[in-house]
Amino acid sequence: MKNVAETIQKLKEEQDLAVLAHYYVNDDVQALADYVGDSYYLSKVATRVPQRNILFCGVRFMGESAKILNPDKRVVMANAAADCPMAHMADVEKIKRARKEYEDLAVVCYINSTATVKAHSDVCVTSSNAVKIVQKLPQQNIYFIPDQNLGRYVAQFVPEKNFIFGDGFCHIHTDIKAESVKKAKVKDPLAKVLAHPECLADVLALADYVGSTSGIIEFAAESEADSFIICTERGVSYELEKSNESKKFYFTDDNQVCPGMKSITVETVLEAMRTLENEVEVDEAVADKCNHVLSRMLELAE
Ligand code: 13P
Ligand code: SF4
Repeated sequence: MKNVAETIQKLKEEQDLAVLAHYYVNDDVQALADYVGDSYYLSKVATRVPQRNILFCGVRFMGESAKILNPDKRVVMANAAADCPMAHMADVEKIKRARKEYEDLAVVCYINSTATVKAHSDVCVTSSNAVKIVQKLPQQNIYFIPDQNLGRYVAQFVPEKNFIFGDGFCHIHTDIKAESVKKAKVKDPLAKVLAHPECLADVLALADYVGSTSGIIEFAAESEADSFIICTERGVSYELEKSNESKKFYFTDDNQVCPGMKSITVETVLEAMRTLENEVEVDEAVADKCNHVLSRMLELAE
């Protein structure tokens, strides 16, 4: 492993590369990254790294967002096939129809969406800033796409606005069932339930904390509780266990695994670092529109 670490360090320097990774990727990939975080953190970091090239260990929409925010940098995917199915669950035709139907409409797209969908939206959000951003929008009607579960969670905090929800969802999060959470609670009644807002409403209703992957990790670190039931993808366990040796973390079932994220391995990282192939390319006109939508998110989230 020492040799691999040395090779990676050498390649980072030779190729002038910053390695960004999401909390859901494999542990050994998180360990070699320069920056690890949630989608919001990674989109901010992408605008600040001094290196000419970014290697993205995450799914496609994350690499696309980094490229759109940094048109002059080369953004390379650690695995070109790593994708998020939810990103494809929004539809430009439906956006057009909603715009015709509602005059005073803001199209709010979750960052888990394609560049094409972002280009037709008014603002982008992530799970860590969605409530704050929607509260600041002047429009009365909010078309929230693609994730209906995050949309419904956000809507609770903005009762003064009218929401229209997309029909997207993340199967990893919606597979987490309230019954399994309750069973885990019976085994350890003092455990705190920490959930990602992509979970179903009945799971969120059982949660002591709802937030992004970074939010979950911060909550666990600051909490005085000794044990936690984690309702999100298993990749967060790497950081949770590393930073909280005396605390216990349970996952409700074995299926809390995102295949796209897990398709990134040390081997695919090394290959992408050597070749700098799998470069993210976004059509210039689309990228221009998306840049506005993502930059607006960064401004409103501050
Ligand atoms: P975070 O922004 O909370 O890291 O979530 C990204 C994601 O894909 C959740 O499934
Ligand atoms: Fe997409 Fe779900 Fe994977 Fe997140 S966990 S990247 S929403 S498929």
